[in-house]
Amino acid sequence: MRLAVIAGDGIGPEVIGEALQVLDVVVDGVETTEYDLGARRYHATGELLTDADLASIREHDAILLGAIGDPSVPSGVLERGLLLTMRFALDHHVNLRPSVRYPNVAVPLAGDPSIDFVVVREGTEGPYTGNGGAIRTGTPHEVATEVSLNTRFGVERVVRYAFERAQVRRKKLTLVHKTNVLAFAGSLWQRTVDEVGRGYPDVATDYCHVDAATIHMVTDPGRFDVIVTDNLFGDIITDIAAAVSGGIGLAASGNIDATGTNPSMFEPVHGSAPDIAGQDKADPTAAILSGALLLRHLGDTAAAERVEMAVAADLAERTGPVSTTETGARIRARL
Ligand code: IPM
Ligand code: MN
Repeated sequence: MRLAVIAGDGIGPEVIGEALQVLDVVVDGVETTEYDLGARRYHATGELLTDADLASIREHDAILLGAIGDPSVPSGVLERGLLLTMRFALDHHVNLRPSVRYPNVAVPLAGDPSIDFVVVREGTEGPYTGNGGAIRTGTPHEVATEVSLNTRFGVERVVRYAFERAQVRRKKLTLVHKTNVLAFAGSLWQRTVDEVGRGYPDVATDYCHVDAATIHMVTDPGRFDVIVTDNLFGDIITDIAAAVSGGIGLAASGNIDATGTNPSMFEPVHGSAPDIAGQDKADPTAAILSGALLLRHLGDTAAAERVEMAVAADLAERTGPVSTTETGARIRARL
């Protein structure tokens, strides 16, 4: 298993260190190439992601990424120049973000809801493409546009992926959008779900406006099985999803090229958390669970399940905050 490792900024190296050690326990022969990408390299060389970096990263089976972003660099430079550039260049059209409430994990919701849904967020289109512009900047007549790009090809492939997921789960697919206002893109998404759905007659489909979806996620998260949505709505609702299912410290994700042409990239949903970086405080569980998603993606379901069970057991016995290294050590001890 040849892994490209991008530890990145802030808490990235700390959580990725633990995740890699976990992978080493459950898989024989993990070979890693570490890439120095992020704020340090940017300050030292002005480089974000070179063609040579990208060509070399492509030679791997998968990518494990920690976090990108640092307060010493203007907001967005590293995020766009590195993270989004990789998602686009490697055609990571599926951004897979599962939300599972593990036993004994407290959640900030009334009742004692069980939560087990997965958001299939489109990863290469929507308002993320940089397809906009500004004129008359700095004048009272400044105009800025940010165009949401939605192609039939791009929507169809992510919708199809979501149906495939739903079929092997509880067979329910919810489209989340804002079709009452975003009529053009909304129509494309709704028609695509309807048409692709004809090929999956046993999957029930429904629709939810994104604003209402945020309410349901807080009041009745058990109603969701698979959610399919665009890049920006998916970004927003997966932060809520993480918050309601145990916190951002547990939320894992995969940026997937479902065609298998390019290596897929697995990363915790959380950011670089500079406020706690270097203090052995960050929860490495999201990075470790991202490692489990990576294993499952590469076909090692047994190893993925072992990691997830060890994490579940660790969470069940947690009574208070545990350090980064201690959490990793406890999970490895269970394995
Ligand atoms: C995420 C992040 C990124 C996104 C940022 C850092 C560009 O918030 O992975 O959810 O918006 O996709
Ligand atoms: Mn986000």
